Amino acid sequence: MVSVRDVRAKAGDEPITMLTAYDAPTASIVDEAGVDVILVGDSVGNAVLGYETTVPVTFEQVAHHTGAVVRGTENALVVADMPFLSYGTDEAAAIENAGELLKEAGADAVKLECGPHTIELTRRMVELGIPVMAHLGLTPQHVNQYGGYPRQGTDRDGAERILELARAHGDAGAFSLVLEHVPSNLAAEVTEAVELPTIGIGAGPDCDGQVLVFHDAVGLSEWSPSFSKQFGDVRTAMQSAVSDYVEAVESREFPADEHGHVEPDLDELY
Ligand code: KIV
Repeated sequence: MVSVRDVRAKAGDEPITMLTAYDAPTASIVDEAGVDVILVGDSVGNAVLGYETTVPVTFEQVAHHTGAVVRGTENALVVADMPFLSYGTDEAAAIENAGELLKEAGADAVKLECGPHTIELTRRMVELGIPVMAHLGLTPQHVNQYGGYPRQGTDRDGAERILELARAHGDAGAFSLVLEHVPSNLAAEVTEAVELPTIGIGAGPDCDGQVLVFHDAVGLSEWSPSFSKQFGDVRTAMQSAVSDYVEAVESREFPADEHGHVEPDLDELY
């Protein structure tokens, strides 16, 4: 079983691999491939639940999908993403929610989209035994404030803010840091400056690890961001399997004799 200590220890030695998953069969595929960390991202909203953004995703939905991923995982570290407003408004409620993801859903750690408001919360969670993965740069729960998904840290002030927040969350005890959609040179600088491992998405090659959304990586998404890469074409494979099924049923080719059975004793009844 991969632990948060293993993730920390891998940094600077070997690249850390992380992918999202939202259900048990996908988690088992990802786990069997040897991925270090499985993230039950609030990207479940876009990837699985048909929402345009992650804003509508509820705590109950993340807890439900986390349980499924945990049941499908044997080795990887499972990190549950805390959805919009399940933290950040009230410390006690945030800790209770994070605790439920660990105690009831079985996650190993939680991820928080971070800002100045999550520094003390990270410290408190870590003190209580809840490992925290921080997330800086593009934080999609701010989509309404950004008016889209713009690259972050592109000017000196923005870059310094990300660097400061990275240091502060490292000091508060976060065990790793996702850097999303920031310039590669900023990600390299942050990776050099902080002790906690950085895991990049759209953040260039110099982070300690990389993360992608499963549906983008295997080619199941209809659309994926330019910083993502498709390593397969699962959508075409699924479309072709479903078309073959429809054709086989319509032509009465399926089910064939081998897909059913005849009970000889019943012959007398007919
Ligand atoms: O929700 C998610 O999938 C994420 C990753 C893109 C890091 O936050």
